[in-house]
Amino acid sequence: MNEIAVIVLAAGQGTRMKSRRAKVLHEVCGVAMLEHVLQTAESLSPSRLAVVVGRDADEVQKRYAERAEFVLQAEQRGTGHAVRVALAALPELSGDVLILYGDTPLLRAQTIERMVAAKRERSADLLLLSAHAPSIPGILVRDAEGRLERIVESQDATPAELAIPERNTGVYLVSAKLLRDGVASLTPHNAQGELYLTDVVGHAVRHGFRVETLRVDDADECLGVNTRRELAAASRVLRRRIVERLMDEGVTFIDPDAVYVDATVRIGRDSVIEPGVVITGRSRLGEGCHIKAGCVIEDSRIGDDVTIGPSAHLRPGNELASKVKVGNFVELKNSKLGEGTKAAHLGYIGDADVGAHVNFSCGAIVVNYDGYKKTRSTIGDHAFVGCNANLVSPIEVAPHAFIAAGSTITKSVPSDALAIARDRQRNIEGWVARKEGRAPARVPRPAPEAEAEVVVVAPPAPEASAPKAAPSEAGPRAAAKRPVKTKRAKSAAKKPVKKAAKSAAKKKPARAKTPARKKNRRR
Ligand code: UD1
Ligand code: CA
Repeated sequence: MNEIAVIVLAAGQGTRMKSRRAKVLHEVCGVAMLEHVLQTAESLSPSRLAVVVGRDADEVQKRYAERAEFVLQAEQRGTGHAVRVALAALPELSGDVLILYGDTPLLRAQTIERMVAAKRERSADLLLLSAHAPSIPGILVRDAEGRLERIVESQDATPAELAIPERNTGVYLVSAKLLRDGVASLTPHNAQGELYLTDVVGHAVRHGFRVETLRVDDADECLGVNTRRELAAASRVLRRRIVERLMDEGVTFIDPDAVYVDATVRIGRDSVIEPGVVITGRSRLGEGCHIKAGCVIEDSRIGDDVTIGPSAHLRPGNELASKVKVGNFVELKNSKLGEGTKAAHLGYIGDADVGAHVNFSCGAIVVNYDGYKKTRSTIGDHAFVGCNANLVSPIEVAPHAFIAAGSTITKSVPSDALAIARDRQRNIEGWVARKEGRAPARVPRPAPEAEAEVVVVAPPAPEASAPKAAPSEAGPRAAAKRPVKTKRAKSAAKKPVKKAAKSAAKKKPARAKTPARKKNRRR
């Protein structure tokens, strides 16, 4: 096969994007436009890959320095001029040259392969890719026998020419020699006062070269992006392609038009993606995953049979082993979760190395930032993190440790230990009624079991099963004055305590002793 060099034209001003960034760095489905074009070019294993840059040359060059050689077109004097500048920088070029545009990200590699084959089969010196799309400015003008004569830009065209539907996509495969002769012959005698690369076609025809066209099957491939609207249009087309490829690979989308999956994402078969899901960057999802509505997954690696959402957010850098479950309103960042670990509702896990079969209860948080720096924590296999617990990093929670609900944990927790770090509950009888200046309501007292539940978060120690305080037998009025006078309280309380309770009930209810409080002490 003939050697192919690729020249990518990307020096245009991109003014219509109204952007601070170089146009070709704007992303279509998470990948810069120029990156799409470079990938397509690279698939041909070209002998040379040159990008013509102008405005924002530095930004573009820095990013792709290792992928291509760059040629500066300091002044943008048209597509023909851009190629002239490129060829001057590549004097030894031979074989064929493929011309691509940096702002045409949807062109498929297969289409270029078809061009290569067609050029060879038809022994063409120049093969151009055409499309039937009247919005494309370059018009293909043919003679009475249907032979291509020249290309006229719509600004320079007659009304009769404007009616021709066959257009120039701007993608050419041409022998280096013809291209060199062609661009040398260009003059700026046209509406824009530029050197038009399209005039190389007329030059080739006039000088007896063989010029052929190949029509692209899908005109969307040649969609050029000059405005934000066109950027959105190109994204829509590529989004559909991505989802269709994934469906062909065995992924289910409940609504393929309502998901946003970057071109760089991989998803295993039998995974189900619900509407409103956004998956970006180099995210990898295993097989059998279920991503429920409204999730955002950025740059994360996810094993098989993982369930996420609805409405969960995986920020970059997470690694989830198989069978992990992440529920609604959970945010993960730069964390590893071992097999079968669950964080089912409302929480934040940042910078944590979490083992297998760990349970994060509702509202649990790994506090990774102290206002100055971020630190990591480790949580061992089978650890249980209770509701609303804060694990203040850096700490280590050993395997099988148990963190009591509502605890703020600042020290490491050994294996099998219960860590509890919170104030104890006490119930101050009649407090609300006194505050409101009324008799307490005649409501049934909670059963002793219910009271115990507030306090005992772990399997109770043996003595905790001792007889519990009996409910108050005093009437509502008596309770208002002496809220602690249960039988058990009476017999158990020593004199000073009883006194304190009495006076506290009158002045400062907060100091009252209740059976619940006494029992708490035993824990
Ligand atoms: C060009 C073609 C037109 C074709 C259309 C397809 C010419 C004169 N016209 O028109 O026939 O139908 O593409 O999209 O070629 N560029 C440079 N340096 C320059 C000027 C442009 O590098 O001095 C680059 C731009 O960055 C862009 C590409 O060349 O990537 C095309 O330039 P643009 O001005 O957009 O050409 P069109 O008017 O679209
Ligand atoms: Ca264009």
